[in-house]
Amino acid sequence: MSTNTPRYNEIFEKEKFVVQPQLVVIGSCNVDMVTRVGRIPAPGETVTGGDLSVLFGGKGANQAVMAARLGASVHMIGSIGRDSFGDDVVRNFERESVHISFLARSDRATGVALIAVDEHTGQNSIVVAPGANSALTVEQVEAAADVIRHAGAVVAQLETPVQATIRAFQIARVASVVTVFNPAPANTFPDTMFALCDVMTPNEYEAALITGSDAIHSTDDAIKAARAIQSRGAKAVIITLGSRGALLLDGNGQVAQLSAEKVQAVDSTGAGDAFTGALAFGLARGDDLYNACQRAIKVATMSVLKPGAMVSFPYAAEVGDLFA
Ligand code: RIB
Repeated sequence: MSTNTPRYNEIFEKEKFVVQPQLVVIGSCNVDMVTRVGRIPAPGETVTGGDLSVLFGGKGANQAVMAARLGASVHMIGSIGRDSFGDDVVRNFERESVHISFLARSDRATGVALIAVDEHTGQNSIVVAPGANSALTVEQVEAAADVIRHAGAVVAQLETPVQATIRAFQIARVASVVTVFNPAPANTFPDTMFALCDVMTPNEYEAALITGSDAIHSTDDAIKAARAIQSRGAKAVIITLGSRGALLLDGNGQVAQLSAEKVQAVDSTGAGDAFTGALAFGLARGDDLYNACQRAIKVATMSVLKPGAMVSFPYAAEVGDLFA
């Protein structure tokens, strides 16, 4: 690809000039085994759930599919097994029009997530067996350097090896490509990540872990945590607050509290991924951070109204004129 390649796909559609946002997602691909339970089991407890649903998931794949459903051209950098789940994941990406030339197959099993969803609150409890996700390499990322350099945004989470993400963000940074880091699930990561992030999107638990605080109890706590994360190098920070929306700290140090519409959640699994995928879509198409965040909250709110992770995410046609 020449260095003059445009950052956007330019498509002529019935005399209308359409610019398609380009995204690269580096991250996990799982098969989710989901059941609904009367309550999430306590340690040592067995509870009987409802029927089993086998769905596509993984934070990376969810975010990629979210952005693709909104209309982005998305390249997925990930690792799956040479097993039948891996074949299913490939077919699903093909159906969702996610590009998979940088999706590698490993001798390890495709990642699986065991998910219990509380049938009363829609809250979930997840155990992930990462398998092939752990086999994602820096070399795989380097093979995708050209698409990273020409993307509108690059997105990553913490379910695949962080060294591969660091390499992807280094390539993106040199090319002035926006980097969006969703530090989920809550885990530690090297300090070098902070300065490579244009936008970091932790939830309350992840923000507390990153900043070494007990918990985020109030707006003041969230502002303090966001400022602490920014002081370590992230340009902007968005702390997602579930049904309460999000707290945004922009690159100029301005704080905005963005609320979410009150709804009856059926299943919150993947809502954070719907948010990050929609946010990255907005940023890649040139929305400012505030508007991208506000729209992403609306998309994430829609996702909790249906069961499942990516299967619950809306398509462009379902979000009305949100991105008009
Ligand atoms: O964020 C939700 C996702 O986390 C699920 O789809 C599951 O696969 C785990 O990765």
